[in-house]
Amino acid sequence: MRKLLLLTLLALWIFQFSTAVAQEDEMLYKTHCAACHTIGKGRLVGPDLSGISSKYSEKWLIGFIKSSKSMIESGDPDAVAIANEYFNIVMPDFKGSDADVKSILQYINNSSEKSELIVEEEEKAIKIMAGDADSGKLYFEGELAFESKGASCISCHHVSYPHATQGGLLAKDLSKSYNTMGGEAGIHAILTSSPFPSMQETYKAHPLNPSEIEHLTMYLKASSEQTQINKAVIISDTFLIGMLILVLLFFLISLIWAKRKKNIVNKQIFERQAK
Ligand code: HEC
Ligand code: HEC
Repeated sequence: MRKLLLLTLLALWIFQFSTAVAQEDEMLYKTHCAACHTIGKGRLVGPDLSGISSKYSEKWLIGFIKSSKSMIESGDPDAVAIANEYFNIVMPDFKGSDADVKSILQYINNSSEKSELIVEEEEKAIKIMAGDADSGKLYFEGELAFESKGASCISCHHVSYPHATQGGLLAKDLSKSYNTMGGEAGIHAILTSSPFPSMQETYKAHPLNPSEIEHLTMYLKASSEQTQINKAVIISDTFLIGMLILVLLFFLISLIWAKRKKNIVNKQIFERQAK
């Protein structure tokens, strides 16, 4: 029992120590760097420091942060390049120890990872809110999972759409369904409470949410439009071929026609008699 208590206390102490260290890193960064730099939010007085440790070695970073001026003067090519890019605004020397610089870099690295994650999440969220065919495609093909973990449509259906993956052949090809099933309202109805037993079975316990339905509807709409464009192209092709055959026929007929008697018979007889 006492052992357990000791262990818990130890764990608590380590935890507090590590958060205190993390806070110290943050404090150092905030007081000495944040006025001129951001991590993942773009350029300020100085460059965005996101992912800086993958750009330069730690040795270079410590040197630069402690005295960028002397590194520029020594002709270090990277340091000179940055100085030129920032119109020779020279960053003030950081007076702390190497360990302090390492702490700051640690903080920058952690924050960089976080900011990348946030950007990724935001991009995903924007995609979902917009209600577009491309997100619909992701859902249809199972690249994006449905919130309630229902099966992706591609396991049973296929849709022809630019760059669509070949889907299941168990159920109907949905390429034209948006048109044949009464547009938006029709598709909404099918996806909210399907009249088809196998779909009912699949989505009864895993209903689609409204935004997923919206995306899928837009996807089926785009596919319908695409299919129609393809058809229009095919029609105009056959139309052109038809026209060509017609022109050829006219040409042939006129050739045959050219061999006909040029003048009416009566005229020849008339002229012979007139002599
Ligand atoms: C007064 C503004 C200012 C402060 C404070 C400041 N910097 Fe800078 N920093 C700059 C400017 C301007 C540049 C680019 C020009 C130069 O210094 O050559 C720069 C460049 C850098 C670079 C090179 C970035 C790259 O992409 O090449 C690093 C790394 C850097 N700073 C880290 C830090 C750290 C860490 C701190 C805090 C200890 C800090 N800076 C504090 C203004 C500042
Ligand atoms: C378990 C297999 C299965 C899954 C998964 C499935 N469906 Fe179906 N779906 C069917 C069957 C079966 C029909 C009835 C038509 C048929 O005979 O193919 C159908 C019919 C439809 C129709 C009407 C088609 C028409 O033009 O008549 C639409 C629209 C549709 N499904 C959309 C979807 C969408 C969108 C998804 C994904 C959320 C999906 N389905 C998932 C099996 C499935």
